[in-house]
Amino acid sequence: MTDSIASAATCPSREAEIVAALGQRQIVLVGMMGAGKSTVGRRLAARLRLPFTDADTAIEEAASMSIPEIFENHGEDYFRAGEAKVIARLLEGGPAVLATGGGALTREETRRRIQEKGISVWLKADADIILRRVRRRADRPLLQTPDPAATIDRLIAEREPVYQHADLTIWSRDVPHEKIVEECLDALHARLCDGDRAGVAGAA
Ligand code: S3P
Repeated sequence: MTDSIASAATCPSREAEIVAALGQRQIVLVGMMGAGKSTVGRRLAARLRLPFTDADTAIEEAASMSIPEIFENHGEDYFRAGEAKVIARLLEGGPAVLATGGGALTREETRRRIQEKGISVWLKADADIILRRVRRRADRPLLQTPDPAATIDRLIAEREPVYQHADLTIWSRDVPHEKIVEECLDALHARLCDGDRAGVAGAA
């Protein structure tokens, strides 16, 4: 057997190491609207061969209504209560990649649950990128304001102090999504697996 075949047979891939180290936890993507949580999350899940769930989609299914309809018919507080319940349920589902809505962390109970059951990854994006991306769609009720740019600035200022407690931060910018996914995998591996490796090396 050649060296390369031998090492391929004995060394688990970076992705397999991440999944093994994750155990029952979930990888939870957090950050502003338009940061790319769903797009990156879906690709990250595929790379790790884990299920992908999108909290916004699950909320819409649970309510049998679109998010704009929930906001219009019941208001933001009702939406946030439903969002907290749905995320709590999804976090019980075992290893997965979960994309959360941009305001999910504004609830203390959701922050606590994510900390307990997940490893959080903040996809951090600049206001101009967010604005450019969200302009393509009109389905964000919080941005239906006379000045969406000012609204985004306000939401970033309010939320960044919360996002910055995430376990990992990845800069979401205008590069191919696969690059962001690679950076997530690198950061997850360093966080979840390098400690183990140091332990093994120390024991040798
Ligand atoms: C919201 C973000 C949206 C959605 C809802 C509220 C927010 O999700 O949950 O419109 O408060 O930032 P995305 O971040 O996936 O767009």
